[in-house]
Amino acid sequence: MSSSSDQRRKRKRILRQSDSSLLSLPHLLSVRSLVLCFSFLTFLYLLSRTLPFASSAFHPVLVVSSLSLLSSSSSSTTAQSVQDFGSFLYPLRIENRVLFPDHVLLLVKNDGLLKKSVVDELECVYSGVTVLSTSNGSSGDFSVLKVLSFDEYDEFRSVVRCPLPSVNYSADANLRWSGRNGVFAGGEKGLWLDNRRVNSCSWENVAYAAALDGGTVVVFVKGLNLRADRESDPSQFSCHFGLGKWEKNGRYVLRTKALTAAQEVVRCSLPRTLMNKLDKVKGIRVTIGATHYFHARAHKHVLIPSVAKVSDSGFEGQKKKMEGKYELCVCTMVWNQASAIREWIMYHSWLGVERWFIYDNNSDDGIDEVIQELDLENYNVTRHVWPWIKTQEAGFSHCALRARAECEWVSFMDVDEYFYFPYSPPRHQRFRKSSYVGQNSLRALVANFSSSSRTIAEIRTSCHSFGPSGLNSPPSQGVTVGYTCRLQSPERHKSIVRPDALDTTLLNVVHHFHLQKGFRYMNLPQSTAIINHYKYQVWEVFRAKFYRRVATYVADWQENQNEGSRDRAPGLGTEAIEPPDWPQKFCEVWDTGLRDFVLSNLADLSTGLLPWETHSALTD
Ligand SMILES: *[C@@H]1O[C@H](CO)[C@@H](O)[C@H](O)[C@H]1NC(C)=O
Ligand SMILES: *[C@@H]1O[C@H](CO)[C@@H](O)[C@H](O)[C@H]1NC(C)=O
Ligand SMILES: *[C@@H]1O[C@H](CO)[C@@H](O)[C@H](O)[C@H]1NC(C)=O
Ligand SMILES: *[C@@H]1O[C@H](CO)[C@@H](O)[C@H](O)[C@H]1NC(C)=O
Ligand SMILES: *[C@@H]1O[C@H](CO)[C@@H](O)[C@H](O)[C@H]1NC(C)=O
Repeated sequence: MSSSSDQRRKRKRILRQSDSSLLSLPHLLSVRSLVLCFSFLTFLYLLSRTLPFASSAFHPVLVVSSLSLLSSSSSSTTAQSVQDFGSFLYPLRIENRVLFPDHVLLLVKNDGLLKKSVVDELECVYSGVTVLSTSNGSSGDFSVLKVLSFDEYDEFRSVVRCPLPSVNYSADANLRWSGRNGVFAGGEKGLWLDNRRVNSCSWENVAYAAALDGGTVVVFVKGLNLRADRESDPSQFSCHFGLGKWEKNGRYVLRTKALTAAQEVVRCSLPRTLMNKLDKVKGIRVTIGATHYFHARAHKHVLIPSVAKVSDSGFEGQKKKMEGKYELCVCTMVWNQASAIREWIMYHSWLGVERWFIYDNNSDDGIDEVIQELDLENYNVTRHVWPWIKTQEAGFSHCALRARAECEWVSFMDVDEYFYFPYSPPRHQRFRKSSYVGQNSLRALVANFSSSSRTIAEIRTSCHSFGPSGLNSPPSQGVTVGYTCRLQSPERHKSIVRPDALDTTLLNVVHHFHLQKGFRYMNLPQSTAIINHYKYQVWEVFRAKFYRRVATYVADWQENQNEGSRDRAPGLGTEAIEPPDWPQKFCEVWDTGLRDFVLSNLADLSTGLLPWETHSALTD
């Protein structure tokens, strides 16, 4: 068994153990004694800051603290003391602030103790723009708003999202614990001042992520404005590395040349001094320098502001490599698709997908819990917080790097897309064995390419676009069973790629990557496989899509441009208003193929329920 899944297992076991041991405590501890216990452990924790305790000793602290937080509503004094301990325990260091058009993102140093349960205790604080800053923040004109969300981000940091303040308040949001008037989450005065001094970056111009890839580092950056779908000249770019106490002096001491540049992704070699110390590279801040040319002469060198720290995206997977890779994985990017993801993952796991990477752009519909449940059920699903809006192409490049160490093949697809193998008479079978396919057929198909072809590195499958199929509300048995009417001709294609054969630029546009020289793609015949794309679902579902364009190089639905493009809903304007005949739209041919397939292959023989229905019946 791989150690990455080993770790997942361990996590599962810990979860289960703590659940059951807490529930079966023979003497049910009162809230008061838990708090006492908690404060004792807090004391231990503080001791440990000077004594070298093993970090595992602190797991009980977390269990108890979240429990007492849950039960704190029963007693206000308890709630107060827990909050006191909360702010005592967690002085927050804001490392960076990114201003998005509709919110402020704070990157907060995370020592591993900060958990999602804190979100209700944190407040965003904004200073009045007319008031000069005071030394301790307890006086002056402040505006306070609720935190929008909290998430663990990478090995080093968590993200906290704050709303934009009203006019006359500075968007340089700060944080404080609620119930502690005037005391900021910085804890001591010095840290609070540091937090206030953090410069805000604009989302238009910032290096936002960086990942180690062999002897190179791949930096994701906004503001270079490189052309879509083209490789750009790397000679004008360089990478700059900040070592040591970067946060203190803000200087980048090492520099290397860019090897490739395309769209929002720049790849550089590592500085030679760091080559053999890959462990030390993790957490180092990195940014991109760009030389501007004027009449063919270099005339200005600018450094892009950076919130990016080098992370080791494929690290877990390096170990996986030793036991053999997964044959087939999936990368996807989601925003609030909690209700759709269970059917999609269970169905494709049946077809043979073994590992899932879900990049989540700020979902707040509980999708994290659904993903955790699926992982506990051994579907091998991980969620990756990706707070960078409208960066699907860069996110896919990032995911390709992450998946490369673990997967032979990776399918890049959306949560409303389903592989379907239509019935095929024996004489027309290429690439598969029988008329009806069985479990793991998709995996068998790509595995066949792994062994029979050294040059095919991308398998393209065409998509059929399905309409609302006459429905007015979401189908209870799932989309595969509910939607059965579609447009006649297929639209574009989706790809399954070999991450080892991707071009070093990691260039991709609309789910389609550039390959290294010597590799090629092949189109699967429609008689072998097709993707059912449930693109135009019932209005309440489709409406959400208006606000969910994730691609960088595709126009927003709301923007009044490109209206004839096939990325848009033909005939639909730029506003989210239901057209009168929506349920009948996009319906040219009835196609019940996948519905019949699912009902006859996946339904439970005695109850008739589908696997994803069984689950919702249990939890509701
Ligand atoms: C903060 O500073 C003001 C004066 O600037 C002072 O009156 C106040 O007591 C201070 N508060 C705290 C909590 O130190
Ligand atoms: C913002 O400040 C200006 C000048 O002090 C004032 O005239 C205006 O009314 C303020 N706006 C709001 C919404 O408070
Ligand atoms: C999850 O991964 C393990 C090995 O790491 C594998 O045995 C198992 O089949 C995978 N689960 C699914 C649903 O493919
Ligand atoms: C495997 O692929 C080859 C062509 O690449 C094809 O001829 C063969 O039928 C495939 N076999 C299966 C079992 O899919
Ligand atoms: C990403 O999530 C935010 C919510 O935080 C949403 O406003 C935005 O539209 C989403 N963007 C895309 C392009 O998915």
